[in-house]
Amino acid sequence: MSELKQVEREALDALQGVATAEALAAWKSKYLGSKGVVRDLLSKIASIPAEARKAYGQEVNALKDALTSAFDAREAQLAQAALQRDLEGGALDVTLDGRPRQSGRLHPSTQTLRQIMAIWADMGFQVYKSRDVELDDMNFTQLNFPPDHPARDMQDTFYTVDPSVILRTHTSPGQIRAMHELGENGTQPIRVVLPGMCYRFEQITTRSEVQFHQVEGLVVGRNVRMSDLKGTFTQFLKRLFGENTAVRFRASYFPFTEPSMEIDVECFLCGGAGCRVCKYTGWLEVAGSGMVHPNVLRNGGYDPSVWSGFAFGMGPERITMLKHDIQDIRYFWGNDLRFLGQF
Ligand code: DAH
Repeated sequence: MSELKQVEREALDALQGVATAEALAAWKSKYLGSKGVVRDLLSKIASIPAEARKAYGQEVNALKDALTSAFDAREAQLAQAALQRDLEGGALDVTLDGRPRQSGRLHPSTQTLRQIMAIWADMGFQVYKSRDVELDDMNFTQLNFPPDHPARDMQDTFYTVDPSVILRTHTSPGQIRAMHELGENGTQPIRVVLPGMCYRFEQITTRSEVQFHQVEGLVVGRNVRMSDLKGTFTQFLKRLFGENTAVRFRASYFPFTEPSMEIDVECFLCGGAGCRVCKYTGWLEVAGSGMVHPNVLRNGGYDPSVWSGFAFGMGPERITMLKHDIQDIRYFWGNDLRFLGQF
């Protein structure tokens, strides 16, 4: 026991003499290290007579605790002294400006997506999140694309090992799922927006990527008419692009709507006069839309002689590109901070 006391006194005396970080580390290694004095004392326990072992073990542990807390205290003391020296010696200039911190920000697509969703939420639309991995049946057949219909070629598809399971090429299959899940067997009205990533097996170019977002919308009710679609969507576009935005509906074709329309806004870059972005037409296409096809209503569980609806779909990346005159869609997933940092 007196040997332990002796060790403790020696160690604490030595610690008082320690004045540098190196000496401190050496002291720690000598007394508390894996080959240090305390470890050595502990390993001697086998040679202690059995009746004294417990007391010996406790004493060595008490020694270890005492040295550890003395070490911590000395370390803090030395750090404080070093700081004091730096301050007094002028090595630390507390009047310097702070360094600006890099702060994260939202991806431009996320910003546009949130802006779009906030407007639809204000207009009473619920968010319905559908799946990215879809059945071919949902993505096409239920949406009134007959098998071998040429319109399937408009959307080149990523197939999984099971060819009936694909990555959705558009958010429209969510319409069918929303009708089944929220429609209660075709008895309840629906007003939803469906945001999400879509995937197409396409050549990547400045204008097309293999993945992109869409925001789909679906309204089903009694007496829902084309004027509801036009009024609702015009209101949305005014909220997104400004109160004075002019809107144009152009006849088009989609298998899942009848009639179908594409929706244009007056080019906000040139005010309709004609520029490179609007290809000198004065108009920018921002969405597809139409009255839900009776077959699609039926596939969603609704009786089309009683229920009607409208739907729309738009691409936030495209809208972001138009808004900021971005020339190349590949920037969106290129992870280049010089691009992303601008938003
Ligand atoms: N799904 C279409 C596409 O990806 C976009 C679309 C057009 C969605 C018309 C709709 C719609 O809901 O009514 O090209």
